[in-house]
Amino acid sequence: MIQLNCKNVSTEVIGEEHGINIDAEFDNYKDVIKNIIASLNQRKDKPGQWLQWMNLGYNEETLWYVKEYASMVQGRFENLLVLGIGGSALGGMALAEALLPPYWNFLSEDERGGYPRIFFLDNIDPDSMTALFNMLDLSKTLVNVITKSGDTAETMSQFMIVKNILEKELGDNYRYNIVATTDKKVGILRQISEQEGYKTFVIPDDVGGRFSVFSAVGLLPLALVGIDVDSIINGIKDMDLALKNTDIRENIAAQNALIHYLLDTKKGKNISVLMPYSSRLKFVADWFVQLWAESLGKDNDKDGNSVNVGPTPVKALGATDQHSQIQLYNEGPNDKIINFIRVKDFDNNLEIPKIFEYTGIGYLGGKTINQLINAEADSTKVSLTDYSRPNITITIDKVDGYHLGQLLYMFEIQTAIAGELYNINTFNQPGVEQAKNYTYALMGRAGYEGSAEMLRGKIAAL
Ligand code: PA5
Repeated sequence: MIQLNCKNVSTEVIGEEHGINIDAEFDNYKDVIKNIIASLNQRKDKPGQWLQWMNLGYNEETLWYVKEYASMVQGRFENLLVLGIGGSALGGMALAEALLPPYWNFLSEDERGGYPRIFFLDNIDPDSMTALFNMLDLSKTLVNVITKSGDTAETMSQFMIVKNILEKELGDNYRYNIVATTDKKVGILRQISEQEGYKTFVIPDDVGGRFSVFSAVGLLPLALVGIDVDSIINGIKDMDLALKNTDIRENIAAQNALIHYLLDTKKGKNISVLMPYSSRLKFVADWFVQLWAESLGKDNDKDGNSVNVGPTPVKALGATDQHSQIQLYNEGPNDKIINFIRVKDFDNNLEIPKIFEYTGIGYLGGKTINQLINAEADSTKVSLTDYSRPNITITIDKVDGYHLGQLLYMFEIQTAIAGELYNINTFNQPGVEQAKNYTYALMGRAGYEGSAEMLRGKIAAL
């Protein structure tokens, strides 16, 4: 199982001013945490609670349909193009980047075992989109369009362009190159899919975008490129069992949620940095940033008080960002909690040759890159601690489906518990919706005429 080491947030290690008394706080909050965990588990099946993501590890039916479709289309496409944004893209991207062999798209078809290359289009840049559409042979590409609402402007505009190209190239058969993942009943993509006869997968009710990675949103693209989705599911289930424990001393998600909450509210550490020491986990930090930001950044609490809470998440990558951000983290404002992710066993052991022994780099010869990255993680941890900067280490045994299932699910539960501690609605995103609605208005969507006028006035005045 994943391990959490939070010694370096304690007063014993980093002092009274910046640390917390872990033992005392675990005692103070033991009943609060117990009630939060019990309540999440009691409410998870109730409609309207937005907790259905806690059941995704047990959704055998979706798993079966995902695997069946993946095996049905295997060998038929050279590329998989995923269209989606935010929660409809980040989870799949994080897991594909972590679990596929690095540089997957550069491997030959044989080296890929006949599975397609994978591309995520999660932005709307005319230059990069044009380049991608020119580069890909769309007639040999399976397009997975993912949107829960079914009408997000970025995703649907991408889809409209792709659909037109596909139809020109393939005529009526274009529909076999499309698979849509969306709500089971509502939304424009659902309506279009039914009219046009696309294969569809469902994003279950009460699963928000940023909590949807273990639904077909994440699992389908992963299965389509041959990733073992069963091992991910096994990881979620084992972590879910562990995190049902209502004792804070036995529940790492509760510990990390409480530590972040207390360091923010009592010690002013309102920035959470996630810094994996593994390039393959780089996009896990992107995924976490969205989860933490959209879930916890809220203006009102559940009682209607204006609170404007939310720790700011930041992504970093070890060892790269030691040469970019660590100066700030060591010596700048002491307002951050640095979360390291360490990997015990890398898939490869890469030796540094014993050359240039007569120079100052001779000491590296005969060591491994594995030793070097671990030494860098250790030295950064010690130096942050020397500067009294709170830091936490999460250790996973390996970068594989089982451990990534555990890790992402742990972060989801951690976020849900943190939301309860802040007493906010973790699962809504009015700030995102507002920006979406303004875009619809500015782009001339029917029904948004009033806002369009108001927005044009404001834009002109700025
Ligand atoms: O987490 C969220 O709710 C958002 O980030 C959404 O995932 C994002 O806005 C995309 O929405 P949709 O899936 O409806 O296209």
